[in-house]
Amino acid sequence: MYQVSQNELLRQHISEWRTQGLTVAFVPTMGNLHEGHLSLVDAAKAKADKVVVSIFVNPMQFGANEDLDSYPRTLAADAQFLRERGADLLYLPTESTIYPKGLEAQTTVDVPGITDCLCGASRPGHFRGVTTVVAKLFNLVQPDFACFGMKDFQQLQVIRTMVADLAMPIEIVAVPTARHDDGLAMSSRNGYLTEEERAIAPLLQRQLQALAEQLRNGADIQSAVNAAIKTLNEQGFEVDYLEVRRTHDLALASFGDTDLVIFAAAFLGKPRLIDNLPVQLS
Ligand code: PAJ
Repeated sequence: MYQVSQNELLRQHISEWRTQGLTVAFVPTMGNLHEGHLSLVDAAKAKADKVVVSIFVNPMQFGANEDLDSYPRTLAADAQFLRERGADLLYLPTESTIYPKGLEAQTTVDVPGITDCLCGASRPGHFRGVTTVVAKLFNLVQPDFACFGMKDFQQLQVIRTMVADLAMPIEIVAVPTARHDDGLAMSSRNGYLTEEERAIAPLLQRQLQALAEQLRNGADIQSAVNAAIKTLNEQGFEVDYLEVRRTHDLALASFGDTDLVIFAAAFLGKPRLIDNLPVQLS
């Protein structure tokens, strides 16, 4: 596996593959890789001849009070996992290559509407940081395919919207959420949980499943959501949001909508966990 930090070297490898007529799939990450990220690498390998993974803890998408400085950085282990999983190139840009003029003095990419709700409302500026860095990484790597996890469902839909609106010639591949045996979605932030919180954490997905069942049985959305929030808060979570939205545009679900996703974000001690569950109503 090649490991490069310089854009020039990245371009050399990619253009060599291009002259050989090979296709490229890209997996952008912030490192501290776990099975969730590695399942994106598997999906990328299934799609294209060559797989490029980037690790860049993107300062633009972190709020002032968020965990940028303490975000786990585990490069040696990450590189080993990627080698074992058969990635072809690990791209490790530095902050000054991505933001040579600093964070403030640079062109940004904004996707309106779909970024106003959920994590966009709780974390102002977060999605501008995500779309700006992903647009830039796409221009550097110029992949045919790019893989994103359904774990961050809103992010996936925001990226899809950006790619469609800006006519980027890239196919976005959605990969199902990888979970621990007890149902907790894998996440770098699970590492912040105490042992006691880790035992409570799977209740988040379980509550979404219970809510989905109630919706399928015809329950009123708002009363079922309110009851689920109450239960989670009693179990030790501090719910940031729990909402049922339409899959394609993330508008709030109303009576008669069938293609839905339940979205939740909740603090559990220090970390803020997010999860979701697609629901199909007949
Ligand atoms: P990061 O949190 O490192 O996640 C990188 C990719 O892994 C995202 O597409 C995310 O949805 C996916 N992922 C994380 N946990 C997953 C799980 N349990 N199952 C399946 N996929 C999972 O998301 C980011 O980084 C950044 O915002 C980024 C897109 C790299 C831009 O900086």
